[in-house]
Amino acid sequence: MKLVAILGSKGGTGKTTLAHTLSYGATLAGYPTTLVHTDQRPPVKGSRPYDYVDCSRNYAQITKLIKDRADDEGYLVIDGAGNRPHLDLWLTGSMDLVLVPVTNSAEDVRCALQDLARFDDPRVRVIINRWPANRLVRMVMQRYVNELPDSRVAGLLPEVGGVRVFLEDQDWETPSTKVNNQARRLFRLVENNLNTVAELPPFDKSAGVTRVSVP
Ligand SMILES: Nc1ncnc2c1ncn2[C@@H]1O[C@H](COP(=O)(O)OP(=O)(O)OP(=O)(O)O)[C@@H](O)[C@H]1O
Ligand SMILES: [Mg+2]
Repeated sequence: MKLVAILGSKGGTGKTTLAHTLSYGATLAGYPTTLVHTDQRPPVKGSRPYDYVDCSRNYAQITKLIKDRADDEGYLVIDGAGNRPHLDLWLTGSMDLVLVPVTNSAEDVRCALQDLARFDDPRVRVIINRWPANRLVRMVMQRYVNELPDSRVAGLLPEVGGVRVFLEDQDWETPSTKVNNQARRLFRLVENNLNTVAELPPFDKSAGVTRVSVP
């Protein structure tokens, strides 16, 4: 099973949205997928085409899921929520890939650079989220993006208004073509990044990261 966490110290960057988008993309690609909710706020209500597990009150459940499903095919996607450095550090040490979203703000880039320094491992990568369609807005965002080290940028995802459906408390309905394409795009991006990090040695635990202890 592939383990992917979407996290970061900055709020509102799209962690939850991307966790759902990726889970849906993996489902469309035919993989059994579980999305793990860790936020203290309640999970989104309503059915989803992937498993959706609330581990916000019991992080040990995440360890159990990882252990129980280690040999399964498919994806475990973790919505890391915001501002929980200890949980993020613990999750980071257990993942195959960690994505830290950045949107169009200097503050997002500043926080992401701090996160990259904190989790100094090539498996932790920034994903540029909400890449604007408008050329002038894109020029502004490009200036921020230029501050990020190329080797730690996973790729970019466009702004797609329809992705709000992922966070709505309602039963699942097939989303618009744009949302489906976004989900497929994010899944491909994740697969490509997983391929490039596949040969790396395990996380350097001397950096204070442990794979098994629960915060
Ligand atoms: N690619 C995107 N295109 C358009 N809107 C987006 C995109 N990604 C996220 N959003 C919007 O950004 C807002 C914040 O997203 P989200 O709640 O997923 O962020 P978060 O990082 O999980 O926030 P928090 O830190 O509060 O948990 C939402 O309104 C969501 O619809
Ligand atoms: Mg969230």
